[in-house]
Amino acid sequence: MSQSKGRYQQNLRADAARVLFQILEQGMSARECLPAAQQDHNEKDKAWLQEMTYGVLRQLPLLQHWLRLLLDKPLKKNVKVVEHLIMLGFYQLAFSRVSTHAAVSECVNACVPLNAIATKGLVNAVLRNFIRQDTAQNLPDNEQVLSGQPKWFYKKLVDAYPDNYKTILDAMQVKAPIWLRVNNKYKSTDEYCRLLDEREVAYERQAAQHQGIILSKGCDITTLPGYDEGWFAVQDGAAQLAAGLLGSQPNDCVLDCCAAPGGKTCHILELQPDIATCVAIDIESSRLKRIEENLTRLGHQATLICGDASKPTSWWDGQLFDRILLDAPCSATGIIRRHPDIKWLRKSSDIDVLVALQSKIIDAMWALLKPGGTMLYATCSILPAENQLQISAFLNRTPDALLDDKFENDAAQKPGRQILPGEKQMDGFYYARLLKA
Ligand SMILES: C[S@@+](CC[C@H](N)C(=O)[O-])C[C@H]1O[C@@H](n2cnc3c(N)ncnc32)[C@H](O)[C@@H]1O
Repeated sequence: MSQSKGRYQQNLRADAARVLFQILEQGMSARECLPAAQQDHNEKDKAWLQEMTYGVLRQLPLLQHWLRLLLDKPLKKNVKVVEHLIMLGFYQLAFSRVSTHAAVSECVNACVPLNAIATKGLVNAVLRNFIRQDTAQNLPDNEQVLSGQPKWFYKKLVDAYPDNYKTILDAMQVKAPIWLRVNNKYKSTDEYCRLLDEREVAYERQAAQHQGIILSKGCDITTLPGYDEGWFAVQDGAAQLAAGLLGSQPNDCVLDCCAAPGGKTCHILELQPDIATCVAIDIESSRLKRIEENLTRLGHQATLICGDASKPTSWWDGQLFDRILLDAPCSATGIIRRHPDIKWLRKSSDIDVLVALQSKIIDAMWALLKPGGTMLYATCSILPAENQLQISAFLNRTPDALLDDKFENDAAQKPGRQILPGEKQMDGFYYARLLKA
C-alpha cells in the first residue's frame, strides 16, 4: 500500500479496496480519502465507489465473519489490502445487484493495480467458494455481528436503550435521505418547492422544519435550482431545529462557539436577520474557511474567530452574549447512518475524553452568557454520557443555570430532547436549552 495511486490504471474495485484499507487500517476518515479516490472517475463511478465502500463499512462484522470462515489465515501486511478486496467481493455477492461473474472477475483483476498479483488465485478461490458454499446464508447467532456495529458501541446502545435498541440499530443501517434547508433570504420555501415541481424533483416536507425539504431520491445537489446562487443549503432535519430553539431576537449578540462548517451559523442569520452581532468560533483554521465559503454562498455575514471555546481568554473581548449555541465536539454516533466510517474510527475510550472536553467548554461558555441569556447545548450523539448525563452534571454544579424544558416532549429522555436516528427521517441529535438566572 505504499504506492501512489497515480501509477495505476483506473480500477474501481482496487480504488474501493484502497479506501477501505485507509479507513480501517490507517484510521483516515472517508471525508479525507474518498474524494481523492473518486476524483478521476465519472459521476456514476463516483457514486458506485461511495455506495460500495459505505456498504462494506455498514456490514463489516458480518463480512469479517465470512472472511474468517473462508480464509485459512490472515494475509501478510504487504497484501493486507486484499482482505478488503475480498470483503468487497462478498458485499457485492451478498448485498448488491452486481452480477456474480463481474463481482468475481473484477475483484480478481483488481489484484494487479493493488500490486498483489500473487493473490489472484486466492481471491478467485475464496469468492468462488463463497458462491459454491452459499456462505451468504451463513449468519452467526450473534446480534452484535448482525447489527453491523462495533462491540463497544453495541454494548453502550443496549445499556442506554434496553427497550428500543433494536429499532435504533435497524435505523442506523438505513441510508439517510438528503435534507435541504431553503435560504429564505432569497426564496420562500413554497417558492423553492415550485421550482422543484417544475424540474419534476420529488420531495416531502415536515411541519417542524419550516425551511426543510426532504428529497425522495439522491441526486447531485449542485444541479438543483439555485445552488450557486445560495438558494438552499444541505442540512439534516435534526440540525435544522437548532436555530429555532436558540430563539435569537432582534439586537441580540449571538455566539456560535463550535461553528464549522457553519450550517447552523447561516441558519441563525436566516431566521433572525436583525441580530446585532453573530460571532462564529472554531478551533480549526482550515474548517473556519468552510464557514466563510458557506456564509458567502448563502449571502450572510458573521465575525469569524479561530479560537478554543474551552479557553476564551485568548480571544474574547469581554462583551457578554444574549444567546450561545454550543454545538459540541462529540462522538457523532447519531450520524453513523450517514457516515458509517465513524463507528470504526471511534473507540470506547474516546467517549470519556469527549465528555471531559464538552464539560470544560460548557463551563467556559456559561461565563460568557448574559444573566437572562439562553444557551443551546447540542450534539449529534445518542450516548447519554454526552447528553443527559452531561447536562444533569452541569445543572448540579451551576447554581444560576435552569433547564428550559418547554420543548421537551419525551419524559423518559430528560433532561433535554434526544432525537433518535430515523425519527421523522432525522439524524440522531440532542438538544438542551439552558437559561441563565
Ligand atoms: C459538531 S461540529 C459543529 C457543526 C456546526 N455547528 C454546523 O452546524 O455546521 C463541532 C465543531 O467543533 C469544533 N471544535 C472542537 N473543539 C473545539 C474547541 N475546543 N473550541 C472551538 N471549536 C472546537 C470542531 O472543529 C468542529 O468544527
